[in-house]
Order: sequence, then structure tokens, then C-alpha cells
Amino acid sequence: MAYNNILVSVHDQHIGIVMLNRPKQLNALNPELMTELGAALLAFDADEQIGCIIITGNEKAFAAGADIPTMAQFDFAQVYKADFVTKNWETIRQIRKPVIAAVSGFALGGGCELAMMCDFIIAADNALFGQPEIKLGIIPGAGGTQRLPRAVGKSKAMDMILTARTMKAQEAQEAGLVSRVVSLEQLMPECLQAASTICGYSQLAVMAAKESVNRSFESSLSDGIMYERRLFHALFGTLDQKEGMDAFVNKRIPTFKNQ
Ligand code: CAA
Repeated sequence: MAYNNILVSVHDQHIGIVMLNRPKQLNALNPELMTELGAALLAFDADEQIGCIIITGNEKAFAAGADIPTMAQFDFAQVYKADFVTKNWETIRQIRKPVIAAVSGFALGGGCELAMMCDFIIAADNALFGQPEIKLGIIPGAGGTQRLPRAVGKSKAMDMILTARTMKAQEAQEAGLVSRVVSLEQLMPECLQAASTICGYSQLAVMAAKESVNRSFESSLSDGIMYERRLFHALFGTLDQKEGMDAFVNKRIPTFKNQ
């Protein structure tokens, strides 16, 4: 697929990078961009060489939300029939390898929702998170009312969604939305370092860990713990478990083969 709205690259053979690339529109997410993003993520997920994926924007904007001029033309029948937003926005949920959101600048509306669909968020200190859809006469439509309360709790989520108040990086970190805050210059080095660390582990263990954490949002505690226990048991059937534990016992660095 030819990409017109994103830039795709590979760092150090194992890290897939997708840069949202509509700078004039502050990376507003139009349907074409979301289709391209989905295709790029699926291609990285299918690539044996890739161990981790980073989604980023530019200094000023991760993404300032869904594309408003595009949405302004839509009526109910169109959005309902096309299943607008859900249809091509949630491809990211199918991705089994870790996806890191590297956020600088605006992460508003669909931009904040896209960041929350990633596995974790590393933010530059100029990042700004918000769900300002209420100002447009709508509500968040790509998971904001569901993922934000899970990330920051009901009170803060309600405040942000009902008043359209934004949150700076530091507050977002304190609230649990963001895992790390670094300077703007350090954003990509920090994300690449995190991705590289992940790529050094067994891909089987990494994928199982992601699957198990995600399960916690969909199941009761006892079901989730049982799910975790079964994946934990399954990993004892891998060569990587033998390698990881043998390396520890023999005081050497493990070499995982993803087997
Ligand atoms: N869609 C389309 N274009 C956008 C956009 C968006 N979401 N956000 C910004 N732009 C465009 C602006 O129209 C402007 O284009 P022009 O230069 O052609 O006029 C350009 O990006 C730069 O924007 P501003 O001049 O407004 O820049 P600013 O620094 O003064 O303000 C901002 C930045 C506060 C982010 C402001 O642009 C803004 O409020 N944007 C809209 C944010 C928003 O409401 N997002 C939610 C969208 S709805 C949604 O996402 C639904 C969902 O849940 C899926």
C-alpha cells in the first residue's frame, strides 16, 4: 500500500516506526490516515524481524483528533452505515506485538484515544492530553469514554470529557495515563531504548505478557488470573524459557530465539 499520510521506517532492524504525517492539520486523523496506519501496523505485526512498534507524530502534535472538516459533512445515516471510527480505527487492537505511543504536543480527541489504544505512552514534557469533543456537540467516539476512566479514574475522566479540560504531561503521568515523561529531545531516544529493551526479550513472552495484561480489562480477577496462569505454564514449553533460566543460573546473557 502506498502511504500518503504516514511515514513508515524500521530502526535497528527490529523496531517499526509509524510517524503520523499531516503536519499542516496537526496530524488530524482522517479515514485515509487511519486505513494506512492499520495497514502499516498489520505489516509490522506480520514481520518476523519486528519486535516492537512505535507510533509518533511531530513536535507540535501527536494528533489533534479526528479530522473535523471531514466529519462536518457526515450525517447519522452515513456514519452509522460506514461504522465511522470503529471500522478502521481499532485495527491497532489486533496487533500482538507491543505498540508504544511517543507523544509530543497535542494528543486531543481521537489523538488521545489513539495514544490510549497503544500499550503504553511515553510523553515529551510539552504533551497535552484532552477529550474536547463536547465542544463540537459530540462525545469521544474512539474509546475515550471507556479507556480514559480505566486509565485515570472516573472523576478525572468525567472532568476532562465534560469540561474539555486538557492535561499536561506531568499531570497525565501522575494520573497513570502516561508511563514516562521526558524532554522533547529525549522522546524518541527514550522510546527507542524502551523498544530495544523489549526486542531483547523472548517475543513469545512479550506477546503473552501483552495478551495477559489486556485480558485484565475484559475479565473478572479470578478469570484473568487463571488466564495468566495458563499462559505462564505454556511458556515453560518454549526454548526461550530454557535459555532465559539457564543463562541466569550460569551467569551469562541469554540469547532468545523466539522459539
Ligand atoms: N481536524 C482537522 N484540522 C485540524 C484539527 C482537526 N481535529 N485540529 C487542527 N486542525 C487544523 C486547523 O484547522 C488549522 O488548519 P488551517 O491552518 O488550515 O486553518 C491547523 O490544523 C492548525 O491549527 P490551529 O491554527 O487551530 O492551531 P492552534 O495552535 O491555534 O490550536 C488546537 C491547536 C488547540 C489543537 C486547535 O487546532 C484545536 O482545538 N483543534 C481541534 C481539536 C479537537 O477538537 N479535537 C477533537 C476532534 S473530534 C474527535 O476526535 C472525535 C473522536 O473521538 C474520534
